[in-house]
Amino acid sequence: MTMRTVTTISEVRAACDEVRRADTIVGFVPTMGAFHAGHRSLMSTARRECGFVVVSLFVNPTQFGPNEDLAAYPRDVDRDAAAAAAEGVDLLFCPSVEEMYPEPGRTTVHVDGLTDRLCGARRPGHFDGVTTVVSKLFSIVGPCTAFFGRKDAQQLAVVRRMTRDLDLPVELVGCPLVREPDGVAMSSRNAYLTEGQRTAARVLSRSLRAGADLVVQGERTAVVVRDAIVGVIATEPLVELDYAEIVDAASLEPRDRLAGEVLIAVAANVGRARLIDNCTIVVDGDDVTVDLGVIAEPQS
Ligand code: PAJ
Repeated sequence: MTMRTVTTISEVRAACDEVRRADTIVGFVPTMGAFHAGHRSLMSTARRECGFVVVSLFVNPTQFGPNEDLAAYPRDVDRDAAAAAAEGVDLLFCPSVEEMYPEPGRTTVHVDGLTDRLCGARRPGHFDGVTTVVSKLFSIVGPCTAFFGRKDAQQLAVVRRMTRDLDLPVELVGCPLVREPDGVAMSSRNAYLTEGQRTAARVLSRSLRAGADLVVQGERTAVVVRDAIVGVIATEPLVELDYAEIVDAASLEPRDRLAGEVLIAVAANVGRARLIDNCTIVVDGDDVTVDLGVIAEPQS
C-alpha cells in the first residue's frame, strides 16, 4: 500500500475507524519529525506488529519553553515523508499548528510527581505540553498500540502513567534506544553540534557504560556509581553536565541503592544542544542486566 499524507484530524479519524472496523490493529508512532534511525526503528516495529501504521509529525509548540529551540528545530517534511514511506507507514499525519490548536487551549493534562524530576525540573511546563498533545493525538487516532523510544525514558514513564490514570484505550510499547556507531544517542538535536562538539558528546554514553560496568562488578551504592559517571563527563570540557541521576525506572524516585529496575539518566548542554542519554539496569541479587540500547543498522 502506498503511504497517504494527511493534514486534518477528521481524515486521521476516518482512516483509523475504517481499518478498525475490519479488526485491523492500528499502530501509532507520535513524532516531531527530522527522522533518524531511532524514529525509523519505532516505525519498523509498528509495521511488524500492526496491520495499519500511523505516524504523526508535529513540532508541538506547547512543549518548548520560551528560551528553547522551537524556531530552530529541524524541519524537512519531504525527506521525512520519504523515510516514513520507506518504512512501510500507511498514514502520515502532518497537522498545522492551527489544526491542533485552533484556539489557545484551556485544558492541560498534567501528570503529578513523575514530572517534577530529571528533565521536568529543568524544563518547566515541558511535560504538560507533551502529555496534552499526546492525549490529543491518542484521541484523534483512537484505540491503538503506540510506540515510544526509551531514549526519552522519562517521557515514556509519564505517558505510561497518564494512559493508566485516564484509562486511555492505548497499549504502550517501549522500544530500544538507538545509538550512532560511536555510541552517541540518536537525536534530532545532534544536528546542532559542530564536529568537535559531536565528538565530545560521546562522553555521555561512555560515562553510562562506566557506571554500568561498576554495577556489573558488584557496586550497589548509587552515589558511588553517580560519582563515577560525573567524573567521566568532567573529563570533557565541551560537555556541561546538567544532571546525572539514579532513579527507580517506573516511579522515577531517587534510589540510594541499586536494586530492582533502575534508570540512570544524564542530561548535558553541548554547544547549543541539550542532550539526554540513559541506561536501564535490572539488579536481582548478583544478577545484573544492563540495557544501553542498540547501535543503528547501517541505512540501506
Ligand atoms: P521526538 O523527539 O520526535 O521523538 C519521537 C519518538 O522517537 C519518541 O518516542 C522518542 O523517544 C523516539 N526516539 C527519539 N530518539 C530516539 C532514539 N535515539 N532511539 C529510540 N527512540 C528514539 O518525543 C517526541 O518527539 C515528542 O515529545 C512527542 C512524543 C512526539 C510529543 O510531541
